[in-house]
Amino acid sequence: MTQTLAASNDIDPCTLVLFGASGNLARVKLYPGLFRLDSIGRLPADLKILAVGRQEVTLEAWRADIKSMLDAKFKKGYDAAAFERFIARNYYHANPPTDPDAFIKLKNTLSNDAIFPQNLAYFLSVRPVDFAPVVESLAKVGLTQEDKFWRRVVVEKPFGTDLASAKELQSGLTKNLKESQIYRIDHYLGKSALQNILLQRFTNTILEPIWNNQYIDHVQITNTEMLGVGDRTQFYDSTGALRDMIQSHILQTLALTAMELPKDLTPDGVRDAKIKVLEQIRPIPVDELNKHAFRAQYAAGKVNGEKVPGYLEELGNKDSVVETYAALKLFIDNPRWKGVPFYIRTAKRLHEADTRISIRFKKAPLQVNEQDQNWLIIGIQPRECIKMEIQAKVPGLDINTRTIQLDAANRLAEDDTVDAYEALLLNLMQGDNSNYLHISEAEAQWRLVDPVVKAWAADKTPVHQYPAGSSDPEASKVIFEAEDQFWRYSIELGGDKPN
Ligand SMILES: NC(=O)c1ccc[n+]([C@@H]2O[C@H](COP(=O)([O-])OP(=O)(O)OC[C@H]3O[C@@H](n4cnc5c(N)ncnc54)[C@H](OP(=O)(O)O)[C@@H]3O)[C@@H](O)[C@H]2O)c1
Repeated sequence: MTQTLAASNDIDPCTLVLFGASGNLARVKLYPGLFRLDSIGRLPADLKILAVGRQEVTLEAWRADIKSMLDAKFKKGYDAAAFERFIARNYYHANPPTDPDAFIKLKNTLSNDAIFPQNLAYFLSVRPVDFAPVVESLAKVGLTQEDKFWRRVVVEKPFGTDLASAKELQSGLTKNLKESQIYRIDHYLGKSALQNILLQRFTNTILEPIWNNQYIDHVQITNTEMLGVGDRTQFYDSTGALRDMIQSHILQTLALTAMELPKDLTPDGVRDAKIKVLEQIRPIPVDELNKHAFRAQYAAGKVNGEKVPGYLEELGNKDSVVETYAALKLFIDNPRWKGVPFYIRTAKRLHEADTRISIRFKKAPLQVNEQDQNWLIIGIQPRECIKMEIQAKVPGLDINTRTIQLDAANRLAEDDTVDAYEALLLNLMQGDNSNYLHISEAEAQWRLVDPVVKAWAADKTPVHQYPAGSSDPEASKVIFEAEDQFWRYSIELGGDKPN
């Protein structure tokens, strides 16, 4: 099949309207990302950026604030001409919540088409409770109406906190927007390493034919961090590992790993294939939860030689049952994956920080000695790589095999480092929503994790503890289907040894 590229580099003249422009995300990711895109010539010449905030700020002060964001991000400095071009694109509009005419005034500001191109992309970098009210206010003054010009709305993560709230948010948005206007962020999808999964699977004749239950024993999708929850204790305790990482990033990684070949590389083609596989994941049986799901919390321990406190100590509440380690076993009910367990896990304060997909293949037809089964590993971060572990004869007089590792970097030293938000901002302006979530994906993901979140919240028995800086808790192995399955704990040779 010949594929077409999802989007061209042509971008309509447009105005990016940024709500929450003084917030953390805007300072750390959005303005630096937009500046980088401008510096490499990827922004349309007439793009304008209108910051919208509650405070009265002069244009001069706002532009000085943007400079401080760039100074903080690009410590080695940046090109003065690129800065002048970028800063001239920027404007500020005060939108005090106490002013009943605030959005009429915003409309008046935007109607100055000598400054602001009339295709409008709204980026809602605000509190999730404000997503629907902001859209409602924009709609009331006609600012979401598409006639001659397009209108797009980016909604930040999280899209709801469970299935019911996701549906409620969706119904709030769709009163005023079509699905094609809504761009839901899962910033993992902006990562080149994630986009690579689909390409590496389907552009390689040697991989696709073995990507099924005939050859694959099981799949592990892993995201571990050495960091703890830091100063986000309250946020984390109301969220937990399952909702924070598994409901979003890890299930998207699974979808890209397991999906069928999309009918084409258009946004609809890619998203249809992901939706289909997400909807084919078998619901987790709550009456047998302990065979399918495992949770734990980090206790005090040592990370990089330094003593660190446990989660409950950091939180100051010894009764919390919120997980910092979550593992699930999933099955996908389709012919390709029948009987193949997908083990997905995420954790804070583990012994290593790594995101990867590890695939173990079935036993080879010839067994010479106690040999390992083949593994194929796709490293996402910190190393973007593909590794294959195969058996080879040990040179010498005897017939013995050992595991050798073929190791290829997916990222070369000279490759561009593009932040996920840069890619997503460009996609937004291009009208390419393939790397944004469709509502059916968000709902399928909530549908899957909701019963586990609820069952775990209701079960107040103390949660299993693991020392910070250790490997997977021994008890987590309860979810494995077969006795010879175990957590792969590193992408390195030897990382397949049971830990
Ligand atoms: N930061 C990240 O890395 C990150 C990661 C994932 C998701 N997100 C999501 O991105 C969005 C923005 O995150 P953020 O970290 O930038 O948030 P933030 O710094 O807490 O706030 C963003 C903006 O929201 C407005 N705001 C804050 N408190 C408000 C209040 N009580 N009432 C009305 N407006 C208020 C402020 O804008 P004005 O005062 O200028 O109006 C503020 O600049 C959130 O939806 C978050 O869930 C962020």
